[in-house]
Amino acid sequence: MGKKAKKESETPCKETFEALPVEGKTPATVVLLLSSPEEDILIKACEAIHIFAEKGDENKVSLLELGALKPLCQLIAHNNKLVRRNAFMALGIMAINADVKKALKKMDVIPLIIDKLSLEEDIVVHEFATLCLASLSLDFICKVQIFDNKGLPPLIQLLSSPDPDVKKNSLEIIFNLVQDYQCRVAVHELGGIPPLLELLNSDFPVIQHLALETLQNVTIDKDTRNTFRDDQGFEKLMDILNNTDFSDLHAAVLCVVANCLSDSESVQLIHKDGGLMRLMDFLHTTNKPEIQSSAVKCIARVAQSSENRKLLHELNVEKVLVELLSVADVAVKTSTFQAVAAMSFHLASKDRFRDLGGVPAVVQGLSSESLKLREAATQALSNLTRSNCLNTFAVYEAGGHEILVQLLHGSCPSTIANAAATLGNMAGQEVIRCSIFSHGAIQALVEPLKSTDTQVLVNTTQCLAVLACDTEARAELQSAGGLHPLVDLLQSYHKEVLHSACWAINVCASDEPNAVEMCKFGALEMLQEINQSVNRSSSFSKMAMISLLNSNLSVKYSLTGHLASTDIISDGFYDAGKVPAGHRILTLEELSRQPVNQHRPIIVVNPTAEETVDVPEERQSNPSEPDTSSKGERRVSEKKKDGDKQKDESQPASPTEKPWKMMDDVSLQDLLKEAKKSILPLNDEREQYAALARLVSEAMGGAVEMEKLTEFPWVLHLSELKFQLQSNVIPIGMIRRGIYCHRALLFKCLADCIGISSTLVRGEYNRAWNEVLLFSGNPSSKGRSSQPCRFIVDLMHQPGNLLAANTPAAVQYQTI
Ligand SMILES: *[C@@H]1O[C@H](CO)[C@@H](O)[C@H](O)[C@H]1NC(C)=O
Ligand SMILES: *[C@@H]1O[C@H](CO)[C@@H](O)[C@H](O)[C@H]1NC(C)=O
Ligand SMILES: *[C@@H]1O[C@H](CO)[C@@H](O)[C@H](O)[C@H]1NC(C)=O
Ligand SMILES: *[C@@H]1O[C@H](CO)[C@@H](O)[C@H](O)[C@H]1NC(C)=O
Ligand SMILES: *[C@@H]1O[C@H](CO)[C@@H](O)[C@H](O)[C@H]1NC(C)=O
Ligand SMILES: *[C@@H]1O[C@H](CO)[C@@H](O)[C@H](O)[C@H]1NC(C)=O
Ligand SMILES: *[C@@H]1O[C@H](CO)[C@@H](O)[C@H](O)[C@H]1NC(C)=O
Repeated sequence: MGKKAKKESETPCKETFEALPVEGKTPATVVLLLSSPEEDILIKACEAIHIFAEKGDENKVSLLELGALKPLCQLIAHNNKLVRRNAFMALGIMAINADVKKALKKMDVIPLIIDKLSLEEDIVVHEFATLCLASLSLDFICKVQIFDNKGLPPLIQLLSSPDPDVKKNSLEIIFNLVQDYQCRVAVHELGGIPPLLELLNSDFPVIQHLALETLQNVTIDKDTRNTFRDDQGFEKLMDILNNTDFSDLHAAVLCVVANCLSDSESVQLIHKDGGLMRLMDFLHTTNKPEIQSSAVKCIARVAQSSENRKLLHELNVEKVLVELLSVADVAVKTSTFQAVAAMSFHLASKDRFRDLGGVPAVVQGLSSESLKLREAATQALSNLTRSNCLNTFAVYEAGGHEILVQLLHGSCPSTIANAAATLGNMAGQEVIRCSIFSHGAIQALVEPLKSTDTQVLVNTTQCLAVLACDTEARAELQSAGGLHPLVDLLQSYHKEVLHSACWAINVCASDEPNAVEMCKFGALEMLQEINQSVNRSSSFSKMAMISLLNSNLSVKYSLTGHLASTDIISDGFYDAGKVPAGHRILTLEELSRQPVNQHRPIIVVNPTAEETVDVPEERQSNPSEPDTSSKGERRVSEKKKDGDKQKDESQPASPTEKPWKMMDDVSLQDLLKEAKKSILPLNDEREQYAALARLVSEAMGGAVEMEKLTEFPWVLHLSELKFQLQSNVIPIGMIRRGIYCHRALLFKCLADCIGISSTLVRGEYNRAWNEVLLFSGNPSSKGRSSQPCRFIVDLMHQPGNLLAANTPAAVQYQTI
């Protein structure tokens, strides 16, 4: 055992042994002598065995084989003091050997040994008894036996023994014992803390270190920490930190310090006694990197709770941390970034870091060679920029965004997650967002979207949702192939991943090409599946579904049976009927290619006239402006929809098939012209609705009495049309005999084209109706109610009648 400076001899002074009395005897004989009735012989035999055993492991093993253990274990309880002493010396030395230890474990010797730890016993007995236990206490079962046989109290007493070997052995046993919970909490109850603290002043570094390690273990327990604090433990630790002679202990001391600071209550009390201040002073003065790093870790630990962060902020911890950012050592920097990240939960800290010029130093860390340092820097930046606009600008001005985008290409998941979170925080500022975008952030986010790390997925999708707030960015995401992995995230069962993916899809769906592509990747089907699951459905998934459906009203009507007045239908809208959840809705082209069947026809709406195959762009975007050029006499012509050009290029039509063309609907165009001419000039809304209702009714066979409904030949008419067109798809303008669902669709289409407001709602059994909002009462009277009322438009029985919603008349119109 090495001693600080004044250690004179290797082993503490002991009585010297007499010349060997059993010299010349074989080990076997000596072992036999251990059963001698004569105390003199026993004393000498034990001594001889001790000496023989000391010479090496082989000797110990041969003594074991000769059966020395059993008599020795009896002799340690002998009445004669010298016999006991020598027996312990022999046993202690032998017990170092693993085989001996194994044999001893079976001999139930521990109670006997503990019995001899009392203060009346000889110091030599103490030394070798503890040596024996120290060796045994590495074993779990032995530890339990030592504890159960009340070994701890005498061992704690022996920590104050005058003999350093006894101290060291006892400490070693206690250290081994406190690895387990039961003993750990017992130590302070048995008064173990003061002697352990006393040992910190030992001349022997090995004892000091062992005492610190033991303290490190026991202070995991909160009650122990309280006792430790009450016993001035923290001050003693600080005294060691203030003593440069003890710098070899500083790292270990800081480990105990960290434990002491792990609960808020302790921190507050330690702070009251000036302990935190002393720790910060220490940080100022120390200049050994590994010590600085450990000390900063203590600070980061303290900063885990909000009360503590407030305290540290009051102590201006930010200043110390910013100073440490200029230390070159990677470990110091890493721990400091971690402390900055933790402190950044505190709002005022974020500002102070910036004011002290800390942000550029953290940004610099992003370019480090060290993976861990980069990770810590991104974590700090993610926290610093959260809800702090000025910090986002500070990072931006230091060029952080550019490096962060590069880091998205890296391989460390948490670095990517943090970088994405930071960029997401920064992108809230328009100027910064544009700059982030210009550095290729969208492309960089595509790979992380395929990650298996949920944190990466959450942070990237959230970042994406912020970045993709304009059409240019969304187009970029599409061309970079980001929509497919984004849609795939809808399969996630991780709640947060699913939510943020839905949110990003919701944002991206605001451009039709994006929405179309996401539908192509199965987004709608997945969202429907999610909608069916109680656990997975959420306001986020509903929002995403609505956004996607809003870009595809045919599908929306099919799935939800409801189009709002803001859902403006246009060329290519088709009513394929109600499609059960989970079924894919076929495209119009697929439906057109099906052979004529017995099912209800698909009604397609195509109000815009087109005279050539190549349709000018504005035609699409302005369906309410019909082409005025005259058409040929044929009521039905074929034309190519420009929508076709955008169709899925991965599934080209087979070369034998004719390219699919949607039929032109001249009748509908005529109706639309008529509607514009006769309805728009009317200056009363109510009259407009009534007139439009009559126009629709006339186009589809006129008023039908309720009782005569079954005689109205609409079914036959539609069958004829299907046969005539050789298609299940019928342009709505061709329908001369239509009922509720056909009329309501025509009404909605014309209303949308001429710019008046109406919904379209599907009921059961071919019912459908339009709801309009009107101010009730006499339109000319001043006393009109300010709340508009809902009306159902009668298109069937008394066309033009407006039936107040929920009245018996309205309900009768809506149901069979
Ligand atoms: C006790 O402390 C030592 C370091 O001193 C450590 O290696 C060990 O894991 C700790 N044991 C427990 C149970 O915490
Ligand atoms: C640290 O030690 C110096 C002497 O080395 C002493 O003057 C000073 O008061 C001590 N500081 C604390 C906080 O204990
Ligand atoms: C801030 O950093 C800590 C790590 O110290 C991390 O656990 C936490 O999630 C971060 N908080 C925020 C709001 O970003
Ligand atoms: C991003 O990921 C990190 C983990 O690396 C996490 O601590 C943080 O809270 C996440 N940020 C956001 C905004 O979710
Ligand atoms: C979503 O689920 C609800 C309840 O199951 C259902 O009423 C609704 O029609 C579903 N929406 C769509 C668009 O499938
Ligand atoms: C929904 O969640 C509950 C509780 O979290 C769970 O017990 C149940 O199995 C889940 N159901 C499905 C269909 O996943
Ligand atoms: C609407 O959905 C149908 C069926 O999934 C699809 O064929 C069509 O391309 C979509 N159109 C738009 C504009 O999203």
